[in-house]
Amino acid sequence: MFADLIASRDATASRRILDLVMQPDRTKAFSIRADGLLFDYSKTNLDLDQRQMLLDIAKQRDVILRRDAMLRGEKINETEGRAVLHTALRRDPGHVFPQGREIMEGVGETRRRMHHFTQAVREGTFLGQGGPITDVVNIGIGGSDLGPAMAVQALAPFHDGPRCHFVSNVDGAHIHDTLAPLDPQTTLVIVASKTFTTIETMTNAETARRWMEKSVNDPAKQFVALCAANERAEAFGITKDRIFGFEDWVGGRYSIWGPIGLALMLAIGGAEFDQFLRGGAAMDTHFETAPLDENMPVLLALVGIWHAQICGYPTRAILPYEQRLGRLPAYLQQLEMESNGKGVRIDGTPLTHPSCPVVWGEPGTNGQHAFFQLIHQGKDVVPCEFLITAEGHEPELAHQHRLLQANCLAQSDALMRGRSLHEARARLAGNYPDATLERQLQHRIFPGNRPSTTLCIPKLTPFSLGQIIALYEHRVFVEGTILGINSFDQWGVELGKELATALVPVMEGKATRDDLDASTRMLIAYLRGE
Ligand code: F6P
Repeated sequence: MFADLIASRDATASRRILDLVMQPDRTKAFSIRADGLLFDYSKTNLDLDQRQMLLDIAKQRDVILRRDAMLRGEKINETEGRAVLHTALRRDPGHVFPQGREIMEGVGETRRRMHHFTQAVREGTFLGQGGPITDVVNIGIGGSDLGPAMAVQALAPFHDGPRCHFVSNVDGAHIHDTLAPLDPQTTLVIVASKTFTTIETMTNAETARRWMEKSVNDPAKQFVALCAANERAEAFGITKDRIFGFEDWVGGRYSIWGPIGLALMLAIGGAEFDQFLRGGAAMDTHFETAPLDENMPVLLALVGIWHAQICGYPTRAILPYEQRLGRLPAYLQQLEMESNGKGVRIDGTPLTHPSCPVVWGEPGTNGQHAFFQLIHQGKDVVPCEFLITAEGHEPELAHQHRLLQANCLAQSDALMRGRSLHEARARLAGNYPDATLERQLQHRIFPGNRPSTTLCIPKLTPFSLGQIIALYEHRVFVEGTILGINSFDQWGVELGKELATALVPVMEGKATRDDLDASTRMLIAYLRGE
């Protein structure tokens, strides 16, 4: 499928991205605007012919048909026999699905209940035993943690509700340190788990209940469940009126838009949460209606395919120049790697190309003083995805925002431009004796020609955060579709879970296992102090 593109890559490998960027109309042709966002992919080693080849592959791979099938609610998650309808969670209540499917009724009803509950907590009519709720502890993991945790941090300037804390790790240190400073009588515990069986979450939820039982007469009143398994939440002791349910057609890593977003709604309020949904819906409309060559998620995906599958770059860095997007790389790690980190296609045949690259990153400018050395001079090429806002939230510190922006633009420019031996010599001549100059010069050369994209955002608001998340969700979908992957299952996490469950009795000294490998036996003996 990619043979022609790989041949074209080889034929153009020696050209300079800088020369491409300086061509007339390059930036117009290699950028997209959508509802205030600007996506610039001109600093990549992609030309018009190669882009057309990628677009042709997207068409051949039925990106449009599959997109429409997803949005209609067909069961495109084949290995689990489920529809993929997280987009319904951000639709207008009046949206009508084909074939008379009454999806929006349930979505609308749950959204209304979330609004009422949020209002009651924020206005102090919902009371803990000790009075109005001051702190919310969201207990969840993976998609039931990363989305709300990332979004609450991202939208700190809009945060006027109770303080929000997030506990995910089964490491007792996490819940211990989180609960230690809190007053159980004014704390609301959210147990967020689609399945309501995840061992980390259920263990932490029980710990939180024991903590609350010590000073609250009826802890169930201060517990809320977010799940797609209401009967399990009830069995845990959470009453029906405090269970916010969703359907199995919402994947865990796509679930921030519905009940799993409750902590965010409590933090910023129902009206701002609705703006977040509108941002996501605006990106859906763009994805659904823009022609492929002007479609932001499609182009973001095609650039991703070019770098990962055609050029063979094994990782991609997410670099938000926005401190409050500090958790975005972790959020995208799950979204991208759990969705597309697969070894086989939907039909079960093995993939012949690498699937998802390793996704990693940190906010700028911090990363510049940590790992950018490798990005600039290391042997591996790391495609960089920069994000930057035009306006910050601190007008009194606008000069710092300009400095931040200058750093972001300087990095993508430096990656592309590099520094030649000749340029390095001009800067260094006279500083070293001739005998050492040649050696010193080698360390000052930057190969350059390293690709990056930049997503410009007017300002980080609930609306724009919604756009960004939906943009990446659809990017993952398009990449997965082109590779023939089911992006909506995650069987790869099962084996480790099963083995951990079976090891617990051994760790507790209640059982022995002859079938364990020698390394695991040695490690168990060490950990048990034997
Ligand atoms: O183990 C992986 C996973 O299933 C993720 O896909 C999911 O987001 C996470 O665990 C948490 O699952 P749950 O919401 O069911 O507790």
